[in-house]
Amino acid sequence: MCKVIAVCGYKGGVAKTTSAVNIGIEMANMGKKVLLIDMDAQGDMTKSLGVDNPEKLEKTIAEAIAASAELDEDDPGPFNPDIWIMHNDEGVDFVPANNRLAAVEKQLVGEDGGDSILKIYVDSLRDDYDYIILDSKPAMVTLAANVLVAADTVIIPVLCEYLPLTDVDAAIRTINKIRQRRNHNLKIDGLFLTMVDDRTTLSKEIERGLNQCIEEKWKGKARLYKTRIPRSVRVAEAPLLGVSLYRHDPKGKAAQAYKALTKEVLAG
Ligand SMILES: Nc1ncnc2c1ncn2[C@@H]1O[C@H](COP(=O)(O)OP(=O)(O)O)[C@@H](O)[C@H]1O
Ligand SMILES: [Mg+2]
Repeated sequence: MCKVIAVCGYKGGVAKTTSAVNIGIEMANMGKKVLLIDMDAQGDMTKSLGVDNPEKLEKTIAEAIAASAELDEDDPGPFNPDIWIMHNDEGVDFVPANNRLAAVEKQLVGEDGGDSILKIYVDSLRDDYDYIILDSKPAMVTLAANVLVAADTVIIPVLCEYLPLTDVDAAIRTINKIRQRRNHNLKIDGLFLTMVDDRTTLSKEIERGLNQCIEEKWKGKARLYKTRIPRSVRVAEAPLLGVSLYRHDPKGKAAQAYKALTKEVLAG
């Protein structure tokens, strides 16, 4: 059965795209059939997967969403969700994004059911994949709501910096709201620390704070994965080359960490 995983966070720059790409490609390395969907008009995921200029693409998630919005549930007609899918040579399929997604978002705002259009598209692909991973953009606006309505579970990268907990708390509140109102089965699979610098004791402090929040504030509705992703310049280089960490620096600590994290995510 297909599982749809959203990578979410409240801010930009917390390694959502990096995590979606490297977890997705490792799942494919382990023999899973994986689709990545870029839900950020900046197209960072699309670029990370080797597309030099996403703005030149004519078939993107924007057109997929627009076509899904036109579907008549009672009479879907000949809808082929595959026409927006590209293939990456490291073994994952993906639906790219570019700036046109921003225009589509404007159309969806305020439209009745505007937060459920991505779900229509994603559900039409469930039979073809083991995992569908949704990369979201920061801020919980319409596109992010679409991501949370379409997803089964959420994973949340947490920056190893002072004061990330208020951001994580804001993300978890939004997820809880969407669960109550729009997607009763939505689960938070887990949180994980990224950009960890082992020369400092900060990660231990943040881990302690997160575990306390999980127990007291979030009432066990989230958990912390054991794997921590180290800060490494290799991670930042890989997307510029359009490859995963497993190609750019296969023996490096960050690649090993993403492999271990992927195992934890697959374990559910
Ligand atoms: N573990 C890491 N070590 C060093 N740089 C990282 C790491 N993870 C992500 N980055 C870099 O941090 C920046 C933000 O990451 P990104 O995945 O684009 O975040 P988001 O999608 O949340 O905006 C990117 O330049 C990325 O290459
Ligand atoms: Mg991103």
